[in-house]
Amino acid sequence: MAKKFYPNALLPQHGRGYFGIGIYASKVSANIGTLWRSADLMGADFMFIICRRYQTMRTDKLKNWKHIPLFEYEKFEQFRASLPKDSRLVGIELDERSTPIMNYCHPERAVYLLGAEDVGLPPEVLDCCNDVVQLPGRFSLNVSVAGSIVLYDRVLKLAQRHLAATSPSGR
Ligand SMILES: C[S@@+](CC[C@H](N)C(=O)[O-])C[C@H]1O[C@@H](n2cnc3c(N)ncnc32)[C@H](O)[C@@H]1O
Repeated sequence: MAKKFYPNALLPQHGRGYFGIGIYASKVSANIGTLWRSADLMGADFMFIICRRYQTMRTDKLKNWKHIPLFEYEKFEQFRASLPKDSRLVGIELDERSTPIMNYCHPERAVYLLGAEDVGLPPEVLDCCNDVVQLPGRFSLNVSVAGSIVLYDRVLKLAQRHLAATSPSGR
């Protein structure tokens, strides 16, 4: 089926800096596919997977791989060593140390890291994160849903800042 374009579609402001998002030790390739689609639509610059546990990638109908690169790392240390200069690694996790997303100001250069479907982010990986952010809820969300909400929060806060800066009243 041909892709339908909406003339009044909202397009995310990109703003300064860049951002990427990925999953550590994912078991389900469909979650990568769903997150990839959100990442592309929300204006992410790259995606990554670390220590993947699934065998094959489901065919991506929208061919997001043509628009946003996917980097793959076998080991966390390899990924960590390749983090862009002066970027912040932002763990997304329900954890004692995590900041509620409502209070979180997204860094200009952010690399968002989600955990595996079954066990989440291990403590040694959380220790390497510059920030850890949580979404509302007593239970975990699906990982690709969690990632999509974080990206939306970034886009929304950026749009609000842009509006406040450009509105004639200065509010
Ligand atoms: C299904 S959850 C992992 C659940 C795992 N059984 C646990 O309790 O640690 C998969 C990933 O989604 C993300 N996630 C899900 N719900 C979240 C929330 N409320 N806040 C932050 N991250 C969340 C985290 O990255 C998490 O590692």
